[in-house]
Amino acid sequence: MDRRRCWFSKLLLFSCFLLSSGQSWSNISATDMLDSVIRDHAFQALERHRTGVVYHISLPANLSGMTASVLRLRSSSLWRKGASFTAFHIPPGTTAVPFVRRLVVVYQDWGNWSASYYNVTGHKLVGPVIGFLAYDAFNASSNTTMDLDFRVNGSAVSISFPGAALPKGSNSTAKCARFWPNGTVDLGDIESSNVCMTRSTGHFAIVVPLEDTDHSLVMGKRKEKKWWLWVAAIGGGVVALLSLIVVAMFKLVKKRKREQMVRQAEESEALEAIWIGRSRMPSATMIRSQPVLENGGAP
Ligand SMILES: *[C@@H]1O[C@H](CO)[C@@H](O)[C@H](O)[C@H]1NC(C)=O
Ligand SMILES: *[C@@H]1O[C@H](CO)[C@@H](O)[C@H](O)[C@H]1NC(C)=O
Ligand SMILES: *[C@@H]1O[C@H](CO)[C@@H](O)[C@H](O)[C@H]1NC(C)=O
Ligand SMILES: *[C@@H]1O[C@H](CO)[C@@H](O)[C@H](O)[C@H]1NC(C)=O
Ligand SMILES: *[C@@H]1O[C@H](CO)[C@@H](O)[C@H](O)[C@H]1NC(C)=O
Ligand SMILES: *[C@@H]1O[C@H](CO)[C@@H](O)[C@H](O)[C@H]1NC(C)=O
Ligand SMILES: *[C@@H]1O[C@H](CO)[C@@H](O)[C@H](O)[C@H]1NC(C)=O
Ligand SMILES: *[C@@H]1O[C@H](CO)[C@@H](O)[C@H](O)[C@H]1NC(C)=O
Ligand SMILES: *[C@@H]1O[C@H](CO)[C@@H](O)[C@H](O)[C@H]1NC(C)=O
Repeated sequence: MDRRRCWFSKLLLFSCFLLSSGQSWSNISATDMLDSVIRDHAFQALERHRTGVVYHISLPANLSGMTASVLRLRSSSLWRKGASFTAFHIPPGTTAVPFVRRLVVVYQDWGNWSASYYNVTGHKLVGPVIGFLAYDAFNASSNTTMDLDFRVNGSAVSISFPGAALPKGSNSTAKCARFWPNGTVDLGDIESSNVCMTRSTGHFAIVVPLEDTDHSLVMGKRKEKKWWLWVAAIGGGVVALLSLIVVAMFKLVKKRKREQMVRQAEESEALEAIWIGRSRMPSATMIRSQPVLENGGAP
């Protein structure tokens, strides 16, 4: 039974793998809208503030649960020294694309909003979605902004996830999900237990396949119960069928035996009455006088 269960979960794993290869995440317009809300608040936070200092962004009350911070940088400084802020480490030798003199880097932690806005087919988010976005600082005073990407020379940008505690034993299955603006998701290898590497801006999360967590931990109990119910039902059915067969066979054998015995009795009676003995004689006549053969089926 254990082997059958193992086989079942392998099948499940396989089908989930197939599903995940064409995945997409939902609600692009809603996440775009939230990105721009956070960007606008980031630019507000930077007004009359210093370049090179990280500021916490105060978000509207209806976004509680999310956190964000912002840093304005000179491109020359980014190229020479790189930057480390909140969860990012941007190595030296990084440039903004297209090139701008000063840029704004925004960090978003989607917190409890992550799962409602981002999902990966067949996977479960571990910890929050982290947004790593960059804009042209020159546009800060106007209402139109330019999104930037990065070009890294050498090592990539690392993002460490704050609350990402991998479920036990999911080291090898955990992946870095990268949510593209067009709605597709890439799954890449994880750098260490809570670090993802990237060469571009975007939204990121650590994910584990559903089988690793839900099936053994969260939904496991309900699944197990159902599974046992099936086993009990099938097992009960088999036992009932077997006992029916056994009873039928037992009856048949008994009937055959009795028929044989009766036949033998008749034969021996017909052949030699003396051979049987004194006490046998009256009982034999009794058997003969009653229609035992016809009622032989009843016990
Ligand atoms: C995940 O995405 C799919 C497809 O966009 C959507 O139908 C589904 O409701 C989403 N699930 C959650 C939990 O948001
Ligand atoms: C996307 O988000 C908007 C706003 O939060 C919501 O009204 C809409 O139902 C969501 N759509 C999907 C498919 O989740
Ligand atoms: C938050 O409230 C503002 C108005 O104050 C509204 O425009 C916006 O859509 C709200 N956002 C969400 C995610 O509910
Ligand atoms: C996230 O948690 C905050 C409280 O910490 C709550 O006000 C908010 O509604 C939650 N948001 C979602 C999308 O669950
Ligand atoms: C924003 O910046 C880009 C590049 O610096 C520039 O091409 C664009 O015109 C600016 N937009 C506004 C509204 O200033
Ligand atoms: C930006 O847009 C707001 C309204 O959305 C407007 O009040 C403000 O004047 C605009 N700022 C600029 C510089 O255009
Ligand atoms: C990348 O770095 C190497 C050495 O650090 C340098 O020789 C090369 O020109 C750089 N490439 C770019 C595109 O900046
Ligand atoms: C989405 O964008 C990524 C990166 O730009 C690209 O690799 C991928 O092919 C795009 N997918 C679709 C369906 O356009
Ligand atoms: C899981 O990851 C941790 C930290 O990266 C490591 O110490 C541990 O050996 C890993 N376990 C397995 C089974 O790979």
